[in-house]
Amino acid sequence: MTIDLDRARRETPGTAEVIHLNNAGAALMPRPVIAALVDHIELEGRIGGYEAAEREAARVEHCYDALARLLNCARGEIAVVENATRAWDMAFYALPFRAGDRILTAAAEYASNVISFLQVAKRTGAVVEVVPNDDSGQLSLAALERMIDARVKLIAVTHVPTNGGLVNPAAGIGRLARAAGIPFLLDACQSAGQMPLDVEALGCDMLSATGRKYLRGPRGIGFLYVRKGLLGRLEPPFLDLHAARWTGAREFELRSDARRFENWETNVAAKLALGVAVDYALGWGLEAVYARVRALAEGLRVGLRRIPGAVVRDLGAERCGIVTFTLQGIDAGAVKAALARRAINVTVSTLSSTRYDMEARGLEELVRASVHYYNSEEELERFLAAVAEIAKGR
Ligand SMILES: Cc1ncc(COP(=O)(O)O)c(C=O)c1O
Repeated sequence: MTIDLDRARRETPGTAEVIHLNNAGAALMPRPVIAALVDHIELEGRIGGYEAAEREAARVEHCYDALARLLNCARGEIAVVENATRAWDMAFYALPFRAGDRILTAAAEYASNVISFLQVAKRTGAVVEVVPNDDSGQLSLAALERMIDARVKLIAVTHVPTNGGLVNPAAGIGRLARAAGIPFLLDACQSAGQMPLDVEALGCDMLSATGRKYLRGPRGIGFLYVRKGLLGRLEPPFLDLHAARWTGAREFELRSDARRFENWETNVAAKLALGVAVDYALGWGLEAVYARVRALAEGLRVGLRRIPGAVVRDLGAERCGIVTFTLQGIDAGAVKAALARRAINVTVSTLSSTRYDMEARGLEELVRASVHYYNSEEELERFLAAVAEIAKGR
């Protein structure tokens, strides 16, 4: 199936306002998602927050079914939390580490994850090791295989980094992790919604992602998948009366499903709207979405390479919808500002978000233009013309 671009743009009111190439930041929400969000907030205003949640309970619950379909897992393996960071944290901090344990990660790992590795390493004496990249710039499966031993207690990898089009070979990592019986935590924050994700095919035990990026959901909502076989062995770092039941003066009982990683209070409107966003994405088909996203991004890279002074910085054998580049002699913030004056949204990726990778490449910052299926070819032409002007100092 191909994407009906006219329909996609008609259903995305923001396309009338801006050329939105910040889909890896927060994508434009489509009308059904906006409506779900606004309607629920209006209902809360009219009848009360708890009462609105009760009335819409079935639609809120549907979020779990939608996410389970998206990831090919069971609804009981899904927790819906505030964002991808909290989802990832709840899994990571539930894992026990001791002195000498090894945590293996990738060069493109996201700063928040690395900060957590370092904190736990400091507390426990575990060590964090970065698996080298192969020649294409993706995590080297051969190197990972060589590094695996009985001391490796976690493989935690970012699927698609915040700072480029790289798609790490998650399924290959999953195969190695599974063969060695090591838990595999996949940060799918930037891949969810732009490509098919099947936790069985990926072989991951835990997966975290967010609503607002390629899934086109609202801000302030994310989710965690934890494989059933692992659930019972993971005690969340924080508990409340939703994650556990207070069963006696000195006793409590953890929930048996993945909601043990949630807490009681939640943004119900966002949760409901996340379910709508996932259904909406599935309605287009993730294969079709990814095919268009990849084609648009590759076209953009070709166009950028033709602009004198522009250098495309994306790594990897497989590249997705995130396009990063530098313009010689012009800092990334100035490029972003000049594009914003033309109603074109991009963002800047800085060293501090992906330090291992940026330091290794000697980069301080990059301009990030991330495309989605609702972007038109004409928008990308206008973007390229604007970059060419900026490169000439206009
Ligand atoms: C790779 C990656 N992981 C995690 C996050 C954090 O997501 P959130 O802001 O939803 O917590 C981001 C955000 O940009 C990201 O790019």
